[in-house]
Amino acid sequence: MTKDHLNVQDGAMVQRRMPRVEELSRLLRPAPIVGDGTERRLRRAASIADLRSIARRRTPRAVFDYVDGAADGELSLRRARDAFARLEFTPTVLRDVSSVDPGRDILGRRSTLPFALAPTGFTRMMHHEGERAVAAVAQQVGIPYTLSTMGTTTIEDVAAAAPGGRTWFQLYLWRDRAPAKDLVQRAVDAGYDTLLLTVDTPVSGARLRDVHNGLTIPPALSLRTFVDGALHPHWWFNLLTTDPLRFANLELAGGTVAELINRVFDPALTMADVEWLRGIWPGKLVIKGIQSVDDARRVVDAGADAVLLSNHGGRQLDRAPVPLELVPPVVDAVGDRAEVFVDTGITHGADIVAAVALGARAALVGRAYLYGLMAGGRRGVVQAVEILAAEIVRTLQLLGVTSADELRPAHVRLRPQA
Ligand SMILES: Cc1cc2nc3c(=O)[nH]c(=O)nc-3n(C[C@H](O)[C@H](O)[C@H](O)COP(=O)(O)O)c2cc1C
Repeated sequence: MTKDHLNVQDGAMVQRRMPRVEELSRLLRPAPIVGDGTERRLRRAASIADLRSIARRRTPRAVFDYVDGAADGELSLRRARDAFARLEFTPTVLRDVSSVDPGRDILGRRSTLPFALAPTGFTRMMHHEGERAVAAVAQQVGIPYTLSTMGTTTIEDVAAAAPGGRTWFQLYLWRDRAPAKDLVQRAVDAGYDTLLLTVDTPVSGARLRDVHNGLTIPPALSLRTFVDGALHPHWWFNLLTTDPLRFANLELAGGTVAELINRVFDPALTMADVEWLRGIWPGKLVIKGIQSVDDARRVVDAGADAVLLSNHGGRQLDRAPVPLELVPPVVDAVGDRAEVFVDTGITHGADIVAAVALGARAALVGRAYLYGLMAGGRRGVVQAVEILAAEIVRTLQLLGVTSADELRPAHVRLRPQA
């Protein structure tokens, strides 16, 4: 075939004409004009990555980086995400998947979706609607929400924002046990049914972005933050015209993130403390931040009802094990005595489906809902949860299974690294 043969003129093959007006009017279906800016922004977001982009534009740099960043070279986080990206599903076809149930029993209660919302500190800094908004969305959807010890809303106010919902409390133990005991009692009185003890924080990880940005909590007014204020006036306006940003559940003066964390965390925490907590906490106990099979065994021996395989979203030890890869061996070791949860790096519903297929009872998500919160407050959190829910349901259907409970290790494999 010669070059001339390939170079056929368009006109030789296609007869052109003028379009008729009726044809054009049928095509022109203008989208309804949405007056509310938040609504308009959120409508266009089809993925957690889209919410992240909006969040980046809507919040001051230091706040966005505090959420988005991780420790040191951020390798723990990157590797966790890479592991999800390397997954390969094995679908089955010709099954009736017209109706699927993505729900899951988590620590004795049904959750409508196979994930819970992870504890995140300083949540009202991300958006003034803060923890109340996140807890209310979780309650409406029917999934658990975890309030952090470093939260900016009280234990009681969060419970009141999600009546009938399932609220969990995340505990840091610090040198003086008395305030921790007090918090545990308040969580019992307010009806929290599950306690997560975080154990991957003997000291703060090195969050370099926070150091570079000079982030303090509450944010301090400096020349840099003043300039930033001009770029994000709505954020500063909301910060300054709502309840002052403070740790709602503990007496702590402000400072840099590392200073605050190091003041709270107890580097002398041991297994005896897990046993002590087991003795005073009547509900379900989850140990958060487990990163080896041996430790999973030890905390289950000490009375934990579940282990959360997590490296804190890559915010503590860099080059930590990839939590997802620990799921199969930890399920093998303790799965008959305890539930196994996993977090770190989840940005898509398919990540959660894969985690469950590998044996996790459920996943927890942190940044995914925070991006939604920063992008649009409560409505942004709704959007984040809806995006993940739709992705989970679609993935189950494409896999040819009718419920999350049907997922098995055969549905997924971790492709070896290239
Ligand atoms: C902004 C932010 C604040 C966090 N604060 C806490 C906290 O106060 N206590 C805690 O146990 N974990 C905290 N975490 C870790 C999360 O609970 C969770 O382990 C992590 O976000 C999971 O990774 P992902 O963000 O990639 O989903 C925080 C995470 C982020 C992103």
